[in-house]
Amino acid sequence: MLVSGGAGYIGTHTCVALIEAGYDVVVVDNFSNSEASAIKGVEQITGRDIAFEQVDTCDIEALRGVFLRHEFDTVIHFAAFKAVGESVAEPLKYYMNNLTSFMNVCALMKEYGRPNILFSSSATVYGEPDALPVTEQSPRQPATSPYGNTKQMCEDILRDCCHAYDGVDGIALRYFNPIGAHPSALIGELPRGVPNNLVPFITQTAAGIRECLSIFGSDYPTADGTCLRDYIDVVDLAEAHVAAINRMVGGKMEEKYEIFNIGTGRPVSVLELVNTFERVNGLKLNYKMAPRRTGDVCSVWADTSLANSELGWKARRSLDETLASAWAWEKHVRNI
Ligand code: UFG
Repeated sequence: MLVSGGAGYIGTHTCVALIEAGYDVVVVDNFSNSEASAIKGVEQITGRDIAFEQVDTCDIEALRGVFLRHEFDTVIHFAAFKAVGESVAEPLKYYMNNLTSFMNVCALMKEYGRPNILFSSSATVYGEPDALPVTEQSPRQPATSPYGNTKQMCEDILRDCCHAYDGVDGIALRYFNPIGAHPSALIGELPRGVPNNLVPFITQTAAGIRECLSIFGSDYPTADGTCLRDYIDVVDLAEAHVAAINRMVGGKMEEKYEIFNIGTGRPVSVLELVNTFERVNGLKLNYKMAPRRTGDVCSVWADTSLANSELGWKARRSLDETLASAWAWEKHVRNI
């Protein structure tokens, strides 16, 4: 199958899980936010050579070449920009890239009669939910960033294509907060510059690269005053893709377009996550309470019963295990 953005954080872990499940993958990536070394990591873990093409999925003719050179009936589309704050500052960059690349993929899948499209969506589509946990039926809220808007728009593009075109089926997986790394520590998240996300900031602080973690907001209406999120191990997340692909290629979809929440179903506060990181890794983190970050929602976590029953998938890894893997990966990257 084709994996766009397969050199990225979730893409690499998913490639490993797909190969371990017996699927062949062709990876395209333009390395806009990833490194060739990530592909090497996948090859080391799986003991396989990865078919790779350095292609920008926004370039439809270059992408067409990939369709002509490789046989596949399924695409997993990860390739996208994902920094929420940057998307507010540079909306056109996000709309151009995230929408063009996804529409190119959909158009070529239709043109070449390749039926199965899996799209990386996000819990961001739920905004600040009225009721928790969120189910797939919970209303989407107006997007609070261009990034979030591209996720909603791509979901709608996929839904409309599936309804309009006989030969196109789609699944959108709404990821909650992916964290951690492969237990081998050969692949993981490689943020460029100052990390926006909590766990990379924590691991870089523990490694001495950042001086101090700011906990954004301690006055939220939660038990300890910090935000609640649903942190999912990236390897569990990768396995959810395999389960979704099995459903598609096995002809088990009940609708032409389906949506699944992919999370653990367990809310964890920022403070609990920091304390757990310290305990499992036996270290003290330099952190301080700071004002709220603009655009953050207070609480969001998943009802995962649909993915559990329909995909036969469940998040299995503990937060302890996941935060140990995150630190092992940071140490590997920094030679600590
Ligand atoms: N946080 C801190 N300090 C930091 C970074 C984050 O306290 O330095 C807090 C945030 O305020 C938030 C929590 O840690 O409460 C998680 O923040 P992340 O940035 O790791 O994740 P978000 O929940 O903000 O965003 C994630 C993805 C987005 C996606 C969103 C959907 O990164 O792509 O979930 O809800 F849109």
